[in-house]
Amino acid sequence: MIKTFSKVKNRNRISNAYIVMSLLNEDRKLKHLFDGSDWNVYELKILNLGVGAPGTDLLQHCADIFRQATEHRLKIDNERNSSMLFQYGPTSGTYEARFQIAKYFSQMYKSEVKCEDLIVTSGATQGLHVILSTLVDLNGFIFVDEVTYMLALDSIKQFHTLTIIPIKLNNDGVDLDDLEEQLKENLFKTTKKEFWGMYYTIPTYHNPTGILFSSDTCKGLVKLARKYGILITCDDVYNILYYNDTKVPKRLFDYDNKSDKDYRGHIISNGSFSKILGPGVRLGWLELPKRMKKVLDSCGIINSGGCLNNYTSGIVASLFELGLAQTYIQRMYAAYKERMLATCAILEKELPESCKLVIPEGGYFIWITLDGNCCASEFLKFCMEEEQIFFIVGSRFAVASDKASNCLRLSIAFHSKEKLEDAARRFCLCLKKFLKK
Ligand SMILES: Cc1ncc(COP(=O)(O)O)c(C=O)c1O
Repeated sequence: MIKTFSKVKNRNRISNAYIVMSLLNEDRKLKHLFDGSDWNVYELKILNLGVGAPGTDLLQHCADIFRQATEHRLKIDNERNSSMLFQYGPTSGTYEARFQIAKYFSQMYKSEVKCEDLIVTSGATQGLHVILSTLVDLNGFIFVDEVTYMLALDSIKQFHTLTIIPIKLNNDGVDLDDLEEQLKENLFKTTKKEFWGMYYTIPTYHNPTGILFSSDTCKGLVKLARKYGILITCDDVYNILYYNDTKVPKRLFDYDNKSDKDYRGHIISNGSFSKILGPGVRLGWLELPKRMKKVLDSCGIINSGGCLNNYTSGIVASLFELGLAQTYIQRMYAAYKERMLATCAILEKELPESCKLVIPEGGYFIWITLDGNCCASEFLKFCMEEEQIFFIVGSRFAVASDKASNCLRLSIAFHSKEKLEDAARRFCLCLKKFLKK
């Protein structure tokens, strides 16, 4: 009797659980990443300066060029009678796709990107995940800037046996002394993976601070990586969006000079088309030293699927072959540059004096530090009530939640220049009002 009773009870419990699960799993028919959340960037009543993604006025040109590129690629595939586009790809990606990426970025960086150093990915997010799962001892250490790209932090935290250590960040990049102290303190010999530790960063137009690591910092980083045997992974997703200088800054990967006597290869450049073609394209690449490429090329996660994004990389190869990508990226770049310069011009003039603003030389983001005692979350609440302007508070980017609570990040990527100018003026007025309260 008792048994039967508990069975019924259990059955009820299980069916209740199913109801809860099906409610949780209910398809909300969302259309984009920000849909259904407080920070829906398509919500017209809110001026959302939080989102690091291009807006409709830029992305609308994609349909036409992708149609042309798709026709081009499918025709080639048919003529060769091979249907290779629909086959599992070679693990690193096809030669054609890697060749086009290498050619374009060699021109942009004015420094050679070698086809054989590349592995095609579905974007920088996947690139980072693959690196963490294959190259770093899972009982090891990940060093990150004290404020860093918040979703990379979330990805790293997913590997819960890793220890995350925040490192001080200066205006010209990571604090090398602080990093060295932490490396010295935590160094251990790994027998399981290629690296005992990794430093993750965004040296070019950093997210969220917008800073560019100086040449001295980059040289220092390479020295530390070699001395302590760590991997450095750079998200290089904003590198070609330079606004002040006459050329794209040298990427950290290029500082790790192959002709040095002590060269072994310690840097990975994690690239993406998300910011320059469109995030929905989900295409990126890793540029990495030979010893690491060997490991990744033979790892299960890449081998099992063939290339990580064979179909799309084929279409994007055609986009470059036809010269369509180059023109489109130039248009994106010009729009971002105009937006950043216009927004910063207003902020520079109209921000209260007690606030600190470092004008970024490129990328998407503007980092504002409020007066020491000022709480950015409180200001966000006020700003939403008064002006319906949204931004991301600094603590979201920090390992320790009490850090950067007086900072905030604005993004120039989504809205038009006119909207951003209006937003910047209202933001400054609102901040003045908030500070007087
Ligand atoms: C530093 C950084 N890395 C990676 C990403 C995401 O890149 P992807 O879309 O290629 O995964 C972003 C997007 O905001 C970013 O800012």
